[in-house]
Amino acid sequence: MERTQVGIVGAGPAGLLLAHLLHTEGIDAVVLEARSRQYVEQRVRAGVCEHTTVALLRDLGLAGRLDREGLPHEGFALRFDGADHRIDLAALTGKSITVYGQQEIVKDLIEARLATGHGIEFEAADVALHDLESESPRITWTDSSGVARELRCDVIAGCDGFHGISRQNIPTDLLTSYDHTYPFAWLGVLAQTPPSSEELIYARHERGFALHSMRSPEITRLYLQVDPGERLDDWSDARIWDELATRFTLDGGFTLREGPLLEKIITPLRSYVTETMRHGRLFLAGDAAHIVPATGAKGMNLAVADVRRLAPALVALLRKNDSAAADGYAEQCLSRVWRAEHFSYFMTTMLHRAPGADPFTDRLQLSQLRYVASSTAAATSLAENYVGLPFD
Ligand code: APR
Ligand code: PHB
Repeated sequence: MERTQVGIVGAGPAGLLLAHLLHTEGIDAVVLEARSRQYVEQRVRAGVCEHTTVALLRDLGLAGRLDREGLPHEGFALRFDGADHRIDLAALTGKSITVYGQQEIVKDLIEARLATGHGIEFEAADVALHDLESESPRITWTDSSGVARELRCDVIAGCDGFHGISRQNIPTDLLTSYDHTYPFAWLGVLAQTPPSSEELIYARHERGFALHSMRSPEITRLYLQVDPGERLDDWSDARIWDELATRFTLDGGFTLREGPLLEKIITPLRSYVTETMRHGRLFLAGDAAHIVPATGAKGMNLAVADVRRLAPALVALLRKNDSAAADGYAEQCLSRVWRAEHFSYFMTTMLHRAPGADPFTDRLQLSQLRYVASSTAAATSLAENYVGLPFD
């Protein structure tokens, strides 16, 4: 049987960064990933890095490409009632965010891991966890060559996202979770065209929310609020561009630059938190434990914040048999998680139009938007959450 100190399930930002943080402390880990390297490197996800995320990657020497290719943003626009209202992040908080696709971070972390001489078990099928309540839990799986493998660990980190198997290994009677669904989804597209604005635009329109973002000076990322039951087949490129143009309407004119669509995807919006982030020797981190609607741009940043706590907790546990930080792990993470949950819910409900929303709700939304756009106190509150609250 193979042996490691920390068995990590999932090679997303949480699993890969955890492996790196443990490596810098001399702790051995094995990373198992269900998909291929190519798949995880190409999977298009959100793209906003909080300043704390960027600072951590820089401290670790992992931000070379992020600093060269990432796009620093000092503000963004809230667009409603046909006008733009800029949230000046830099003036309000002294901080900025960096637009850099999550899969670019994943590429950088994979490269960093391979550079340490350690591999990643890609295409690991039938991953199963065993003996979690013992001091030597095990992981079994079938590797990419079809060989049955078994790994004995001191600890397992479940970093396998919302649909992973780790959380399912916590007995349901011990699992405390909170779930909220929204009556809409996002249709996201990647367009081969320069961005139509230098900054992100969060647009609230009576036909629904739209977001203008970007990946590079040549690639634009756009989202449309749609019904959760919509089918991609019903959204031709022409229909998508028409709807985007309508929702980004600006008094005085706005030209949306069109181009070939490289990717289209519909994702439901959901909020979920499990307060049980640990069961015996299994620790959950990132999307495996909580998800947020992308309107607040917090998902990847929360995953990074979790493993930033988990790594030193595991080091203390494995090296000194000191379980204090491991015992406090969930509670420590959850205060940041719930703040991000609230902020993401706030941004989502302020900007989306629920089907059949009554006129009262409409008025409340517009009142909230006008308040954020006109009060420095309200804008500062939004901005400090958006750039990321201090880590400690
Ligand atoms: N076995 C092994 N790997 C698995 C399994 C499994 N049974 N199930 C899922 N995985 C892998 C997925 O293929 C994925 O690569 O776990 C990884 C989880 O990565 P992410 O979903 O990126 O989750 P996380 O690392 O927590 O990062 C959170 O991802 O979904 C976005 O918006 C979210 O930005 C946030 C970020
Ligand atoms: C993105 O660029 O994909 C993006 C940006 C901001 C968000 C969500 C997604 O709030």
